[in-house]
Amino acid sequence: MERRHLAECGSTNTEALAHLRDGGGPLIVSASRQTAGRGRLGRAWQSDDAALTFSLALPLPAELDLSGLSLAVGCTVADVLDPAGTRIQLKWPNDLFLDGAKLGGILIETVPLPGQLRGVVIGIGINLAPLPPEADRSAFASGHAALRTLDPAATAAGTLDRLAPALQAMLADFANLGFTPWQAAFARRDLTLNQRVRIGDKPGIARGVSGRGELLLDTGTGVLPMSGGELSLRLENAL
Ligand code: BTN
Repeated sequence: MERRHLAECGSTNTEALAHLRDGGGPLIVSASRQTAGRGRLGRAWQSDDAALTFSLALPLPAELDLSGLSLAVGCTVADVLDPAGTRIQLKWPNDLFLDGAKLGGILIETVPLPGQLRGVVIGIGINLAPLPPEADRSAFASGHAALRTLDPAATAAGTLDRLAPALQAMLADFANLGFTPWQAAFARRDLTLNQRVRIGDKPGIARGVSGRGELLLDTGTGVLPMSGGELSLRLENAL
């Protein structure tokens, strides 16, 4: 896949979306510095050399079901960075945690394209070093972790070199098989499994994820499959 590195941009997701709108093919765009990076739920993700920030841009068939894609991306990143599976956990639907604190996040955005296609952008941000005090990353309101705690020699370029082929392989499989093959892998790293949580304003106990990547919320009177990129999941003890 073509790769492009920018010294600075607003957001690698914005760059990737514009590339797809212009008729571009598969691309990985990374940046040393983002001045208007964004996370889910309208949160800011500005970043500098202390983070790896990149986006994969892909034109895909419009009918492809993207349910669970952010979870499959999370599993792939976690398996590359922590193959033993002991330190990195995943918090539905898009957060990477290291030793119990947020290490990074995933933001998937789409754009309609001509010819039965949809442009899919998978943005990934991973902290390499602790955030400077002035950093505006509201996505980390409740604390953050840094990859160099796990791998002191980790660099942005080296980490991207390790992640890119694994993500490409995952995407080829996902296009054929959907999320189901990653359901067990997600369960092994599921941060909130059997914990009291709140999704939006709904309290319950998290019972893992379905084969479509929905969070299964046990409300006491039944198990509700919850989906949607704009839902926030909070651990009850972190309320
Ligand atoms: C979140 O934690 O809410 C998701 C954060 C996603 C941040 C990445 S950094 C690379 C890409 N460009 C962006 O503007 N956002 C994503």
